[in-house]
Amino acid sequence: MPEPLLYAKDIHKSFGPVAALRGVTVAVGRGEVVGLLGDNGAGKSTLAKILVGLYRPDKGELYFEGRRVNFRSPRDARMHGIEIVYQDLALVEDLPIYRNLFLGREPRRALGMLDIEAMKREAEKLLREIGINIRRPDDIVRRLSGGERQAIAIARAVKFGAKLVILDEPTAALSVKETEFVLDYIGRLRDRGISVIFITHNIFHVYAVADRFVILEHGSKIADLEKRCVERPETIVDIIAQRLRPDQVGC
Ligand SMILES: Nc1ncnc2c1ncn2[C@@H]1O[C@H](COP(=O)(O)OP(=O)(O)O)[C@@H](O)[C@H]1O
Ligand SMILES: [Mg+2]
Repeated sequence: MPEPLLYAKDIHKSFGPVAALRGVTVAVGRGEVVGLLGDNGAGKSTLAKILVGLYRPDKGELYFEGRRVNFRSPRDARMHGIEIVYQDLALVEDLPIYRNLFLGREPRRALGMLDIEAMKREAEKLLREIGINIRRPDDIVRRLSGGERQAIAIARAVKFGAKLVILDEPTAALSVKETEFVLDYIGRLRDRGISVIFITHNIFHVYAVADRFVILEHGSKIADLEKRCVERPETIVDIIAQRLRPDQVGC
C-alpha cells in the first residue's frame, strides 16, 4: 500500500471512567472514502474529534502525509488540510449561500471591505460544481434542502484546501433522494483525489460510495474491510449486530 494520507496509530481516549477509544489504528489513503461504522457510543465521533484537533488523545500517534502531527486545535488540523463537517453544519441560516461559503474567511478589498463580487463569482462556480443549478449565490440558506446544505458545507471545506474531509453522520437527517445527492457529490470529490471519512451508523448510507469499511465497537476496531471483500451491505450489518465474526469475511 502506498503511504496513506492519514495514519492514526493506537489511539486511546477516556472521559473519566468511560474508555471511548481503546487503541484504535486506522489509515486513510489519498482519494479514498472510508466508511466509519458502529453503533451509537462506539467511539466514532470521538475519533473524528481527535483527527481534527478538538480532543487530544491520551495515547497514540497521528501521521499526516507521512509526518508526525500533533494537532492543538481544529485550526491546526485545518492548516494541514483536515476539515470536519458536522450534522448541524455550522451554516448561518439567515445568510445567503455566498456568505456561508466564506464564513470567517472572506476575501477583502482595500480598507477591509468585503469583496462581495468575488464571493458571488466563486459561489456561482461552486454551485455549478456541486450540481445545484437551481440555486443562486444570493439565496438564503434557510430555503435549501438538507442535502443542498450538506453539500454546501462540504464544498466550503474543500474550497479551503481540505485534503481529508470528515463527515459525521451527514445523512442522518436526509431523505433517500437527498442522501443520494450527497453521496454522488462525495464520489466526485474522491475522483478529484480528496479523501473522505464518512461516519454513520447506517451502512446503507455509505455502502455505495465507500472504498473501505472500518467498524468500531465499544472503542475498539473490530473490522477493517475493503469494499471488494464485502459483497453486500447486509454483511456489515451482521458484523455490527454480532451475527457474523469479521474474520469470517475477507478476501
Ligand atoms: N465529551 C464527552 N464526555 C464524556 N463522555 C463522552 C464524551 N464524548 C463521548 N463520550 C462517551 O464516549 C463514548 C463514545 O462516544 P462517541 O464517540 O460519541 O460515539 P459515537 O459517535 O460512535 O456514537 C460514549 O460512551 C460517550 O458517552
Ligand atoms: Mg457520533
